[in-house]
Parts: sequence; C-alpha cells; structure tokens
Amino acid sequence: MTDLSKKHIVLGLSGGIACYKAAELCRALVKQGATVQVVMTEAAAQFITPVTMQALSNRPVYVSQWDGREPNNMAHINLSREADAILVAPASADFMAKLLHGRADDLLSLMCLARPLDKVPLLLAPAMNREMWAHPATQRNMAQLQADGAQVLGVGQGEQACGETGDGRMLEPAELLQELVALFQPKLLKGKQILISAGPTYEALDPVRGITNLSSGKMGFALASAAHEAGAQVTLVAGPVALATPHGVRRIDVRSALDMHAAVMAQAAQADVFIATAAVADWRPAQVAVEKIKKDGNGSMPAIQWQENPDILAELAASPRAQSGALFCVGFAAESHDLQAHAQAKRLRKGVPLMVGNIGPATFGADDNALLLMDAQGSTEWPRATKLALARQLVAEVARRLK
Ligand code: C5P
Repeated sequence: MTDLSKKHIVLGLSGGIACYKAAELCRALVKQGATVQVVMTEAAAQFITPVTMQALSNRPVYVSQWDGREPNNMAHINLSREADAILVAPASADFMAKLLHGRADDLLSLMCLARPLDKVPLLLAPAMNREMWAHPATQRNMAQLQADGAQVLGVGQGEQACGETGDGRMLEPAELLQELVALFQPKLLKGKQILISAGPTYEALDPVRGITNLSSGKMGFALASAAHEAGAQVTLVAGPVALATPHGVRRIDVRSALDMHAAVMAQAAQADVFIATAAVADWRPAQVAVEKIKKDGNGSMPAIQWQENPDILAELAASPRAQSGALFCVGFAAESHDLQAHAQAKRLRKGVPLMVGNIGPATFGADDNALLLMDAQGSTEWPRATKLALARQLVAEVARRLK
C-alpha cells in the first residue's frame, strides 16, 4: 500500500513559472499510487505543455471548458465529482483572485466552483513574486479563500525566477506531496502539541573531535511527520542529523545533550505529549579542550574526565505536569539483546507510562523497524514495517491513551 493508493487527484495548473515543478509533483503523486487528472489553464500551457503533463499522468489533459471529449460535454462536473481532492499548483495571484469572486470563465476555475464543497477538498499552492504575495489584495484574497473552505498551503522563501529574493516561491513537490498525504490521514491529534526529541547528540572533546552515536534520527522524524499528519502542532528538537524537516513541523537544532535538555525543557510547558526518540549521550567530557588535543608521542590517550548528562525523559516524566496527567511521556529503548526485560526495566526506572523498545543495531540508519510496546499491563509486538507506518501506528496509540 502506498500513501495515495486508490486516491484520485485532480492536479490543476494556473499560469506561472512554477509550472515546471508541477511536472515533478505529478510524477510523485503517481509514484505514491494516485491516479492524477491534470487540468490546465491556457496561461499554464504557456509555461509547460499539456503533452508533458499527459505523459507523466498517463491521461489526456483538460484545458478548455468547451472540450467535447466528455459525452455530456460537462468536463467541469465530471472531473470534480470523480476527485478525492483538487490541488492547484501553482495557484497564481490572478487565479486566486478569480476563485475568490466565484468567477468561472475557464475550465479550472469553473471546476473549482462546481466542486461539492463538503466532499472534495481544494488545496491551493500559491506561487508568485514576493511583492505580489505581500500585496494586501493577495493576502485578503487568501484569507477569504480559506474562509470559503479552501486550504491555502504556505509558500517557500528564497530566490525567485524574477531575480528577487523573498516569500512567494511555490512549495517544493515533496512538501506538496506531504500535505496531500496528510489530508487523508485521520486527525487524531488535532489541537495537541507534540514535542519530540530525535537523533544523536554530539559531545565535544575539543574543537574538532567529539563523542556521538549512530542514531540517524529517522524514527523521530517519521514520528514528527505522522503527528503533523494527525493534525498536531509539532516541535522537533533534533541533534545533528542530515534529514529534511517534515513540512509543517517546527524544528530546533541542537548539538550536545545539555543543548537538547535546555531546548526540550523550554518547550515542555506547552506540550501535551513528549516522545523521546533521541539517543542522548549518557556522559560528556567534564572539560572541553580549547585547542585540539595533540598526541604527545608516549603512545597513550590523555585521560578524559566524564560527567553524567541529565536524563531529559526521566526529568520530564517526574515533573508536576507529567505526574498530574497533563503531559504524556513516551520513551524509546534501543537495546542489543533481551529487549523485553531491558525495556520494561527502563520504563520503570524512568517513570514513563509507555516505553517503546527496538533493537538498536537493527534499526539505526534503516528506513524500517520493529517495535515492542511496554506499559504497566505488559508488552505488545509490532512487526517490521517502515518507520513512517510504525510512527502512524504509534501516533494512533498515543491518541487513544490521551482520551
Ligand atoms: O537510558 P537510555 O538512554 O537507554 O534511555 C533511552 C530513553 O531515554 C530514550 O527515550 C531517550 O531519548 C531518553 N533519554 C533522555 N535523556 C538522556 C538519556 C536518555 O531523554 N540523557
């Protein structure tokens, strides 16, 4: 099962240079199992050809409301009735202004107006020059479009095709794909604030060396994605990892265990759930050398004094908010053997209601995992699956326990 299997997506393109990204988006949607029907405005066809979009979607593209291919000659009705969602990417400033007024003088706007409001979600991915984006007319139009039931996705920031720099770039295809996948996930954590720690920590020995571990951060990032998909507001405190931030997730980068401790504590007062997936170093060098530690030729490594790091999870689990039930804490136990015994002992030692065990060497860096859930009642095995699939399962489990 891919994330969009059995979903029929109408991908609308209005005129803008970001049309070139729509080609990649179309391909990504098809790869995720969706059937994609492309509808383009005449302006969009100035930027990318219907031939390209037909080849990528494997379906003839619709451009005109006078297209006679439909037996009843009502493409706007048929296309909008079949859709599980309509995504207009790019949505130009002009196209949004048109939608706002309910104008319908081309197939795409006609189809958006004709869509059953309660059944077919409409997502808009704006793309325009930064001045056009910031203009009060555009901002006003967006607010009204949201009030009328459309979901206006954000924009990216950076260099624009016109040579200027600022807000207004269309979100990247991977980000739009995430938003569309999220649309179909149950909103089990709507209104909840989820705090997640992820990745390794790095404990500096001197300016160029340090102690770290093999945690990739993938499980924590998958949980952040899954919690965002479930409608939560997600803050991800990440150690040094080379992973893209899931769209819609607030990320705070940290390096050492002390940095991670400070960042998590600063966010914890607002959180409803804390999920500790980070592989936090237990110890740090008591002193960080100001200069690189050099070999002195006597064949032995200079002695290092170690100091224990604070246990972030245990500290939060013992806090008044966790004790009163306002903050639900979940720990992860990465073990090499005797998972059940070690994970249960760790759960009791850290005082958390739920501890998730996994075999460290079998999961560090991998895209899949197998989990063992431990609570006061006992244990449940979750067989090997992708980290995202397991993360969705865990999000559902946490949501059930919050009730
Ligand atoms: O003690 P151990 O590191 O095996 O415990 C693992 C769990 O505790 C994980 O959830 C990890 O994120 C959390 N932890 C923590 N702060 C530490 C050590 C571990 O939050 N200093």
